[in-house]
Amino acid sequence: MAERPTSRPDVVALEGYHSPQMDVEVRLNTNESPLPPPAEFDEALAEATRAIGWNRYPDRGAGRLRAALAERYGVGADQVFAANGSNEVIQSLLLAYGGSGRSVAVFEPTYAMYAQIARSTGTRVVRGRREPNFALDPTTVTDLLDAERPNLVVLCSPNNPTGTLEPRNLVSEVVEAAGSYGGLVVVDEAYGQFAPHSAVDLLDDDRNLVVSRTFSKTWAMAGARIGYLLAPSWCVAELEKVALPYHLDAFKQVAGELALAHGPAMDQRISVLVSERERMATALEALPVTAWPSAANFILFRPEARPGREVWQDLVDRSVLVRDFTTMEGVEGCLRVTIGTGDENDRFLKALREALS
Ligand SMILES: Cc1ncc(COP(=O)(O)O)c(C=O)c1O
Repeated sequence: MAERPTSRPDVVALEGYHSPQMDVEVRLNTNESPLPPPAEFDEALAEATRAIGWNRYPDRGAGRLRAALAERYGVGADQVFAANGSNEVIQSLLLAYGGSGRSVAVFEPTYAMYAQIARSTGTRVVRGRREPNFALDPTTVTDLLDAERPNLVVLCSPNNPTGTLEPRNLVSEVVEAAGSYGGLVVVDEAYGQFAPHSAVDLLDDDRNLVVSRTFSKTWAMAGARIGYLLAPSWCVAELEKVALPYHLDAFKQVAGELALAHGPAMDQRISVLVSERERMATALEALPVTAWPSAANFILFRPEARPGREVWQDLVDRSVLVRDFTTMEGVEGCLRVTIGTGDENDRFLKALREALS
């Protein structure tokens, strides 16, 4: 028998991504949009798909998609990078700016994939902690940057899973601190369009700042797997070196481009979800739970009357799936509910009331 090869120690230690995909009636666990894109988008996409020359490789530079994104944000096409979901954007950043002998700073509790992708790219993770209310203390951040000089600093805003929005002056302060030694600040705005402000208008070729976004949440297109980055052109040029040739397929490119042409319909979905979020926040106030303010399309809460894990199971028994964070460090006992349609949210609130009574 052949000796079985071992993977890199970093990979052996990895556990993979766990978010159960269960067959339930109300799925509020992965922060997707509950509403599909508009019917006109489907029709336009079907038509555009018929025109794809499947025997040919797609446009390697995803030129039209990047130009459409550049137009939406008022930047140059050379300041836009697109990838297969923002997870691949983050991976590309870590491949280009992280790797062996380099480090990335993250502030926990936060999106677990940063540390996961860091490990798979051989990048050392430097962990800072959030305050008990999940805010970032600017001194904690700048002290960590001074001590460790991480090559990359990731700020998730609004932060997943807490919903916390980073104040603009904190982002500027961190960018300045990282800029003093050549570190690159990544603001992950996967939920940015649900929030009242963004770091996009701080972008400048002379600043070490990039902003990552996705079509998965606000653009109601998690199934298409499209993410993008707005960045100084010198940064995009480095990311292009680590991207695989033709990594964005022809279908995805056209889907992204057409979605941008339906901006008003997509924006309208966002405002519906934001008002549903506020309705949910008010409803949670009346229940025996602690819920944190959120600028995203989800709310983190901790049941106080019963253990979170039991409440999670009771919700599943009522065919409502939320995300179980009860064992995650820093958010022990907590659950996270994605904002769904009005009906789905009512189903969730009813099931939660029953589970807590
Ligand atoms: C903060 C954050 N960033 C990035 C992602 C990845 O999104 P996608 O790869 O679908 O663009 C997610 C997904 O949940 C997220 O919560």
